[in-house]
Amino acid sequence: MIDIKYPIALGVTAALLVMPPAVTAGTKRAAVKAPTTKAKPAPAAAAVEKDAATLDFEKHRAEMEDASPAELFEAKGEDLWKSKRGLKNVSLAESCDLGSGIGVVGGAYVGMPRYFADADAVMDAERRIVWCMVEKQGFNFAEIAKKPFASGNSAPDQTSIVTYVAAQSRNMKIAVPLNDPRVRDVFETGKEVAAYRAGPYDFSCNTCHGSDGKRIRMQNLPNLSKPEGAIIGVQGWPGYRMTGGLMLTHQWRMNDCFRQQRFPEPKYASDVVTALLTYMIGTANGQLYKGPGIKR
Ligand code: HEC
Repeated sequence: MIDIKYPIALGVTAALLVMPPAVTAGTKRAAVKAPTTKAKPAPAAAAVEKDAATLDFEKHRAEMEDASPAELFEAKGEDLWKSKRGLKNVSLAESCDLGSGIGVVGGAYVGMPRYFADADAVMDAERRIVWCMVEKQGFNFAEIAKKPFASGNSAPDQTSIVTYVAAQSRNMKIAVPLNDPRVRDVFETGKEVAAYRAGPYDFSCNTCHGSDGKRIRMQNLPNLSKPEGAIIGVQGWPGYRMTGGLMLTHQWRMNDCFRQQRFPEPKYASDVVTALLTYMIGTANGQLYKGPGIKR
């Protein structure tokens, strides 16, 4: 079921600790000092540093969101959405249907993943946008998939377009159409994928995200199986990530967690990523999406 692009290097960061609630019970400070983990002195020091960084981040989050770098990508994405581009020299605004009609962006993001008859597939926002770029504008999928996410100094066009589209759903309720049996089916697949254990550590998504109160190196891990946790995993994506200073999409988040899980990286815009996003965003249904944001 999982598309394999290439096997990732394994075991480099085996110092990763998945701590059960019992270990992390108490205040953040107590958890930092808890001698119950097997972490060597160096990683422990790093954890303290990261915790201070977390507090600092929390403190300044509001200010930073006031002048979020995500807005730059939003503006660029709008321009890309409206420009005639690709071999066919058409704009997405005049050719791409995100679910509410050609060119309609308002509320589209919170309504995806959804089923698209023209592609006969359930697609998440990024996958749909890439589909339109390929099918409507004539871009080459293999070229896009070579460098699908931001790195170094550049972000791919679809990252900006996703950011623009997501911003047009700011402060709208998440409404993945789970009453559509085709969407429900993909949701159930995503639920199975999240529970699927494999790899060198026999991890599944749920190992880290399937129960309350888990954390790794002082980072709280949202419980994605509940609406309260799922919304944390949806909120702020696409997001400008302070770590590395990159604008990254929800699809990127999925890819990076496959890495956390020591799984092979999924193919770009593949079924398995859509399934996970359908499960996660669907679980967050009914809650308010606040638009593109910043992430630590
Ligand atoms: C080994 C533990 C581990 C596994 C397994 C894992 N994750 Fe994660 N996940 C993390 C960590 C750590 C973070 C926080 C990363 C950060 O903030 O840089 C995270 C963050 C996330 C987030 C973002 C949360 C937010 O605040 O926005 C989502 C969504 C997510 N993971 C989904 C998944 C999915 C889906 C899977 C299965 C494919 C998975 N994770 C598997 C450790 C894990």
